[in-house]
Amino acid sequence: MKKTDTADLWWKNAVVYCLDVETFLDWNNDGVGDFAGLAQRIDYLAELGVTCLWLMPFYPTPDRDDGYDITDFYGVDSRLGHHGDLVEVLRMAKDRGMRVIADLVVNHTSDQHPWFKASRSSVTSPYRDFYVWRKDLPTNQPETVFPGQESGVWELDEKTGEYYLHRFYRHQPDLNVENPAVREEIAKIMGFWLELGLSGFRVDAVPFFIEGDPGAVAGDEYGDPHDYLKSLRAFLGRRTGDGILLGEVNLPREEQLTYFGGEAFDELTMQFDFVAMQKFYLSLAREDAAPLAEALASRPRLGQPAQWANFLRNHDELTLDQLSDAERDEVFTAFAPDEDMRVFGRGIIRRLPTMLSGDPRRIRMAYSLLFSMPGTPVLFYGEEIGMGENRDISGREAVRSPMQWTPEPNGGFSNAKPRRLTAPVVDDGYAPRFVNVAEQRHEPGSLLSFIRTLIRTYRNSSEIGWGDFEVLDQPNRAVLAHVVSASEGRMVALHNFGPDPVSLELTIPDTAAGTRLVDLLTTGEVTLSDDGAGRFELGGYGYRWLRVIEPGSRRLY
Ligand code: GLC
Repeated sequence: MKKTDTADLWWKNAVVYCLDVETFLDWNNDGVGDFAGLAQRIDYLAELGVTCLWLMPFYPTPDRDDGYDITDFYGVDSRLGHHGDLVEVLRMAKDRGMRVIADLVVNHTSDQHPWFKASRSSVTSPYRDFYVWRKDLPTNQPETVFPGQESGVWELDEKTGEYYLHRFYRHQPDLNVENPAVREEIAKIMGFWLELGLSGFRVDAVPFFIEGDPGAVAGDEYGDPHDYLKSLRAFLGRRTGDGILLGEVNLPREEQLTYFGGEAFDELTMQFDFVAMQKFYLSLAREDAAPLAEALASRPRLGQPAQWANFLRNHDELTLDQLSDAERDEVFTAFAPDEDMRVFGRGIIRRLPTMLSGDPRRIRMAYSLLFSMPGTPVLFYGEEIGMGENRDISGREAVRSPMQWTPEPNGGFSNAKPRRLTAPVVDDGYAPRFVNVAEQRHEPGSLLSFIRTLIRTYRNSSEIGWGDFEVLDQPNRAVLAHVVSASEGRMVALHNFGPDPVSLELTIPDTAAGTRLVDLLTTGEVTLSDDGAGRFELGGYGYRWLRVIEPGSRRLY
């Protein structure tokens, strides 16, 4: 494919970085991170190699679900700054070639949103149909997303004696997307932020968002919810040309393709690969690459504009809901042995380094994989320095502690008194005095320097984002050997999930005589025999990225 055809599909080889302004950097020392603080760190992110920032919700909120409960879709939470501060961040990011996307949380609002206040006030309110109301409690209730915290998805509202739908917490009533007036509002919200300079959205809870009333009886549904998603994508396309919808769809493989729009690829631009993420942890626990290899091989094939977003950790619990009970137990036993490291019976509240007991070899192998798996990598803030979680913060939010910039007690996040911080700083072996940006930034052997190298190499290897992918046959179960191929070139990546060094005989398909495989993360190379075979050494938990250099190739390595 020609460069000119593809240059505008910027997300195909982006580096996405997710952060919450509230916990990133507090510039006015009130204990809460702010846009002025983020502006101070745009150069840090550019230096890391980030090309797309994903901002978690920054809208006005009663903050009962960390900002995913919104009272004004057009506003900026005053604790974080105002629109001017946000626009300043957008300008600075743009100046450094960085895009910005933000969470679009329109499955629901906060129960404090003026629409819901009006909706619940009377059955004749003009806003009544902005939400999903039922006179009687529907039988066949779907399960709640938050077992142990919520008992169902319908809540009786005393004032009118009817039930409203809440797929998440009861203080997050679901918007009624069957209502054309709601759809118009959602389009306006998107249009507003796009006009201000966002390059798209991370779309929250997509399957719940586009579904109709789950209490509807057969024949009473509103049609195909995917038509609605298609119309949103078309709207985004008309407004921006190259904006993206990065969707949260934690569903089995069979269903994922439909959220891309089937073969038309006219719905979500990108989806997080929840399946590969979960199988990755199973592979780590078993020291067996097979579960991950199978997960990658089972991906539906995507048309050119669509893309997978790879991640090892996000801001929620590390969900293992798509593993079997026995598989989940294996991962729990390996990485979350205590009950209080788990949540909702399906997930882990720890970050990767603590799960791996800080073993630098395994941590580096994991990130080497993240950046070499076919797709677009997504980092959650603090991963680049190996931050741990703070288990004093309850449940899922344990991983949302303040970013650690310096060795000082508040980690350089804020000069406010510790008790005034929006969330407590990590206070154990992963505390700022042990894990921080300042000390890792100029240290060539640090995790931060390593991640920077991975990002730089990933950005020089467009075949990772663009290419076809194949797992190479080899006899060692602990090893994942894969090749990504695009017209620009090919790269082979080797990852050892086990502690023992291995020596592998590999055959790289379709290679000309005299082809060399040149290491990209270190110096070294292997010359293949005329039939494409070579021998590769890999340390315990080792990793190698190798560029395929055919005779006469001008590809940089
Ligand atoms: C998504 C978010 C999660 C939030 C929920 C409700 O799953 O990732 O953090 O609680 O939606 O908005």
